[in-house]
Amino acid sequence: MSKILITGGLGYIGSHTAVVLIEKGYEVVLVDNLSNTREEVLDGIEQITGKRPVFYAMDLAEKQQVSDLFAREKDLIGAIHFAAYKAVGESVQEPLKYYQNNLCSLIYLLAALDQIPGSALIFSSSCTVYGQADTLPITELAPIKPAESPYGNTKQIGEEIIRDLCAVSDRIKAIALRYFNPIGAHSSALIGELPLGVPQNLVPFITQTAIGIRERLSVFGDQYPTPDGTCIRDYIHVVDLAEAHLAALERILGGGMPENFEVFNVGTGQGNSVLEVVHAFEAATGVKLNYAIAPKRAGDVIAAYADTQKVEQVLGWKARYTLEESLAASWAWEQNIRKK
Ligand code: UD1
Repeated sequence: MSKILITGGLGYIGSHTAVVLIEKGYEVVLVDNLSNTREEVLDGIEQITGKRPVFYAMDLAEKQQVSDLFAREKDLIGAIHFAAYKAVGESVQEPLKYYQNNLCSLIYLLAALDQIPGSALIFSSSCTVYGQADTLPITELAPIKPAESPYGNTKQIGEEIIRDLCAVSDRIKAIALRYFNPIGAHSSALIGELPLGVPQNLVPFITQTAIGIRERLSVFGDQYPTPDGTCIRDYIHVVDLAEAHLAALERILGGGMPENFEVFNVGTGQGNSVLEVVHAFEAATGVKLNYAIAPKRAGDVIAAYADTQKVEQVLGWKARYTLEESLAASWAWEQNIRKK
């Protein structure tokens, strides 16, 4: 049974990926510094899978802690690296916090994996590396644009660090997955996104408005050059996204990877505007949403959605859930956490 480390394993995408791997028979070791989640997520993972994974509350940006972890968990063969700070606005205010945390943790993790022959790394990257792409849908060959924030820059630099190591090491292979916009939650509604404070992302703000925690959703801008004037994104169900990590891991462990480093877009291939998401939420849940048009948000790109040909052909992975299903899952999760 292959033993895989999942960093940020109690986070939103990490916890769903842990479930997918456990259900596939992997032994997983989770680490998380609990900076943006809670230890109770472990209970949700256990309730879904019937197994309670080994968990370490630790900081990967501390070199000694990473060495100790690998000394203790000797037969690790790979890692899926989610652990990172991700608040765009905060990263502008506190750039060093972002560079230190997101890059040191990656470097220490790579150094440890590079001691293990045949090891695999899956890295959480983001479609933010493309900025406003010149052509849509966005393929993996689209140029990387100057980062809009230190957060975005940590994803670009992270990919470069991995590429440079993979170019010279014959011990490690890696895949970077460039996520579009993850939404939704596990069908059990036992795990999902736990935004602390006021949500910055669209769907958590919608569900909190629908349940009455927020008075009204602000739609950031309706004069963009899109059919209804609002921004377009590619919203992908988090369980689909988790399954893409399994496919990427198995590509590396299966030994069929010709290059030591590859990148894939992970999205549905479908672009939806903010207003389409609002209306799809109303249709999927029957809940009327209070919203108003507000000024643009600084740094937003007009439109981003994935060309999914490469990920479909090479990883054999394709998103299964519709936008309505994903939004219904987000809503079920929101209702469930408010009951607790
Ligand atoms: C954002 C980040 C991106 C990061 C991703 C992580 C910015 C500019 N981008 O992506 O770097 O990788 O989160 O999850 O912060 N919207 C509203 N009202 C709201 C919230 C959002 O209208 O209250 C709109 C936004 O203008 C955007 C769309 O909804 O058009 C999606 O926004 P969001 O969920 O924040 O994702 P991104 O901006 O795509």
